[in-house]
Amino acid sequence: MWLSLIFFVLSVFVLLNVLLAVFHYSTKGRKYWLLKKVPYQEPCPIFGNFGAMFTMRRSYTSMLKYFYRKYRMEKYVGIFQARRPTLMVIDLDIIKNVLSKEFSYFSDRVSVSTDTQREPLLRNLANMSGAEWKAMRQIVTPTFSSAKMKAMFPLIADCAQSLQKTLFDNPLDEVEIPKLMVRYTTDVIGSCAFGVNPCSLRDADSPFLLMASKMFRTDRSTILKRYCRTFFPRLFKFLNLRSYSSDVEMFFTSIIKQVLTERRNTGVQRNDFLQLMLNVQESDTAFAMTDELITSNSFIFMLAGLETSSTTLSFCLYELARDMDLQDRIRKEIIECLERHGALTYDAVTSMRLTTQVVMETLRMHPPTPLTTRLCTAPCTLPGTDLKIKVKDPILIPLQCIQRDAAYFPEPNKFDPDRFQDDLNPPGFIAFGDGPRSCPGARFAQLTAVAGLATMLSGFSVEPCARTTPSIQYDPRSVMLKNKGGIWLSFNPLNKKT
Ligand code: HEM
Repeated sequence: MWLSLIFFVLSVFVLLNVLLAVFHYSTKGRKYWLLKKVPYQEPCPIFGNFGAMFTMRRSYTSMLKYFYRKYRMEKYVGIFQARRPTLMVIDLDIIKNVLSKEFSYFSDRVSVSTDTQREPLLRNLANMSGAEWKAMRQIVTPTFSSAKMKAMFPLIADCAQSLQKTLFDNPLDEVEIPKLMVRYTTDVIGSCAFGVNPCSLRDADSPFLLMASKMFRTDRSTILKRYCRTFFPRLFKFLNLRSYSSDVEMFFTSIIKQVLTERRNTGVQRNDFLQLMLNVQESDTAFAMTDELITSNSFIFMLAGLETSSTTLSFCLYELARDMDLQDRIRKEIIECLERHGALTYDAVTSMRLTTQVVMETLRMHPPTPLTTRLCTAPCTLPGTDLKIKVKDPILIPLQCIQRDAAYFPEPNKFDPDRFQDDLNPPGFIAFGDGPRSCPGARFAQLTAVAGLATMLSGFSVEPCARTTPSIQYDPRSVMLKNKGGIWLSFNPLNKKT
């Protein structure tokens, strides 16, 4: 009897201590922003300000929009991503300073994971920091120069022609646009980054496509895993979780290995990213470009380029299907440029000004990457304020909120490509980020999108169908922007086949 009572009291005591420890752990630091005199949103334990996202009631972007609107008159707001305090900057001048002028204090991004020993594919440009990032960026930047893009363009044009052929060969009513666009961008990236033809347009069940789709899953367990990786990295490691399943890792690693062996054995050179990195490896530079680095950086091109470009094209077609006058205007331009240049060449695509404006306006309204981050790399005062920032303090830049702010783009919810008439890069346009760490693939992505639009719209009219949603509602399961009901449209062949 006494023994049971002692056991009961002890159990209650242990349980209370555990609960107290959990409570202390999850709420420790909740006064962080208060003490710094930064306006902030009161967090809840464990999830911080993002509980609704975790339970999939609201998307990450809609929560950022909520903070942005609520604190619009402030220069910044303090938020809690789980237990981690993060400064979300609202003032565009400060954002520009952080990204460009004062870059030396904010040169890292909040990395997905630093555990690159266990997951070598994560040792890539987007995830690197400090001197390693700088050296790699210097190698990668010239690979996206205009001359290199021009030389690479025939690879993109081939894929764009296959896209048109796929449309001519398949049923065109109720097409699930993101699925078709991802087949196109998978072929483009496979060809330009890996030097292989994934055959995704020819074969909807191509293994390359299936593995690529696995990378972008947004099911509940993947979301949980990513949440754990970002906010509880030690738990992520302890549970031996991985960012990508081992079959995805093995598939892409072995493809790149095969291509490298083939190039070395045959001496064949191609105008793709892999070749450019291979050339660095064979040249006499101080940078040790290992096969592992070539692999992880080819992989990031796919990760960063594939879904962003296909999402852009999908939203773009949706907007064009809703505005037939605009669609006719850009079709006229496309046909005129194709006739003037005789084929789908680099010069033809770069002369399609209005089509490019349509792509930029799509990126303004629906930037596939709606936010970016920076990590403080040297103690400083936030430019234009008296707020002290310490090393490793994370900064969040809400790209989409800025681009939907009427102060920078009047009538921000109206799709109006003419706003890019005089300037393709106005101050409030930051869909590719800004400064030394902005997207190196921006030009490549624009060329891919315009080439795809050129072959599709020169052969077809794109129209709403029975499954087209009346408006865009972002899917709460995805950090990248996606329409909740998907994007479904129909393609009607024009009389003239180009
Ligand atoms: C429409 C398509 C695309 C969009 C909207 C986009 C957007 C972005 C954004 C917002 C960033 C972060 C920039 C910053 O933090 O300032 C970024 C980084 C990056 N993007 Fe893109 N991107 C696109 C296509 C591509 C493509 C096609 C590639 C490669 C082939 C690519 C490769 C990268 C890489 C490697 C980084 C990391 C750069 C670094 O940390 O130095 N992106 N992108």
